[in-house]
Amino acid sequence: MLSAEEQAEIQTEMAHYPDKKSVCIDAMKIVQSHRGWVSDENLRDIAEYLGMSADELDGVATFYNLIFRKPVGRHVVMVCDSVSCWIMGYNRVCEQLTSLLGIQLGETTADKRFTLLPIVCLGACDDAPVMMIDEDLHRDLDPQKLDSVLDQYK
Ligand code: FES
Repeated sequence: MLSAEEQAEIQTEMAHYPDKKSVCIDAMKIVQSHRGWVSDENLRDIAEYLGMSADELDGVATFYNLIFRKPVGRHVVMVCDSVSCWIMGYNRVCEQLTSLLGIQLGETTADKRFTLLPIVCLGACDDAPVMMIDEDLHRDLDPQKLDSVLDQYK
């Protein structure tokens, strides 16, 4: 069941759109901001609230890769694996991240601090290689400095 706070935030978004379904991505982001991810039960509740089928909403969630459909850590590290980043050192960045975190792509650290995920082009190709941690974009990544970047996230 959606909380009163979540419903109020979704209602606020609805004021900006012509119909309820238009806020579906925002609604999932709102629920995710409160719960960390969007479970099947949350998805059904959001769909019902917006007058959509759960399958319809799941289709949107699957397409939109910033909606997490499985539990994630407190911080989500998303490493761009598209072509510019790949050319500019994605492999070295990814190797260093997996080494520092002790996990592979798609996994979460045992202390639930970080989840490491690949992501498509983040639109900062000029500054490749690039990664996002939560809402922060980190550009021109140097594998030797990743430790200090991760240190900013407790
Ligand atoms: S390819 Fe990585 S930001 Fe565009």
